[in-house]
Amino acid sequence: MGNKNGILEVRNLKKHFGGLKALDDVTFKVMRGETLGIIGPNGAGKTTLFNTVCGVYAPTAGGIILGDKEIQGMKPHQIARMGIARTFQIVHPFRDMTVLDNVIMALGRENYCGFFNIFKISRTRENTGRAKELLSRVGLMNYRHKKAENLSLGYKRRLEIARALALDPVILMLDEPCAGLSYDATQDFMEMILQLKEQKITIVMVEHNMAVAMGVSDRIVVLNYGKKIAEGSPDQVKKDPYVIEAYLGKDDESA
Ligand SMILES: Nc1ncnc2c1ncn2[C@@H]1O[C@H](COP(=O)(O)OP(=O)(O)OP(=O)(O)O)[C@@H](O)[C@H]1O
Ligand SMILES: [Mg+2]
Repeated sequence: MGNKNGILEVRNLKKHFGGLKALDDVTFKVMRGETLGIIGPNGAGKTTLFNTVCGVYAPTAGGIILGDKEIQGMKPHQIARMGIARTFQIVHPFRDMTVLDNVIMALGRENYCGFFNIFKISRTRENTGRAKELLSRVGLMNYRHKKAENLSLGYKRRLEIARALALDPVILMLDEPCAGLSYDATQDFMEMILQLKEQKITIVMVEHNMAVAMGVSDRIVVLNYGKKIAEGSPDQVKKDPYVIEAYLGKDDESA
């Protein structure tokens, strides 16, 4: 990739829906260990970018390079196996299982051979220990015996992250992780992200809420109408006249 600290490169990426250019020649890099926030007003192309990187959409043109491999056009499960783990905006853990078992299940995915066999195979001492460690990393250790369905939305999102981390990803991609959370739950969630950052996990976070993105990101990429209009530290981006105009022009309450 040229720069040895670059881990993912999005190069001249385009995604068109008919005549609409949802992504219009977007280029940026993700560096190892950083938290990159991707922000922009409604309709800017954030979700499209997320879905294109994860393989939900094939790009119209351009490249997505993970390490030294081109991954554009690969299927979502292939991209996950290459090391990009994602969370979903709508959380769907196995509701009836405990929090701990949900993570064990994610660890056991490779051995998966039918729903009822899975725990015979994967609930080993080693996997249980590893699952507990993952739960501590997202602040859920004390909730491990709860049923997943009884967790609050913010804690369900943490569980999603623990399950994503179980795949030992190169990059963790978060899709609006604070959407729908109260102010307090959002602050709480940001604390957890800051702790994950200390563990040098590379995070790409698509976030509509500017304050959240600014609070946890090392760098920010700003999209508007499918184009990258700014890139830099939160302080740089906050002062950028194009960014101010894009957010104010949309009369956006979260700007
Ligand atoms: N599957 C699709 N088919 C057609 N148009 C789409 C599709 N997905 C997104 N678009 C359009 O592409 C543009 C970018 O949408 P996208 O959902 O990526 O924006 P966003 O930045 O995630 O917005 P929001 O903050 O509202 O979630 C919008 O004009 C949207 O209507
Ligand atoms: Mg979106």
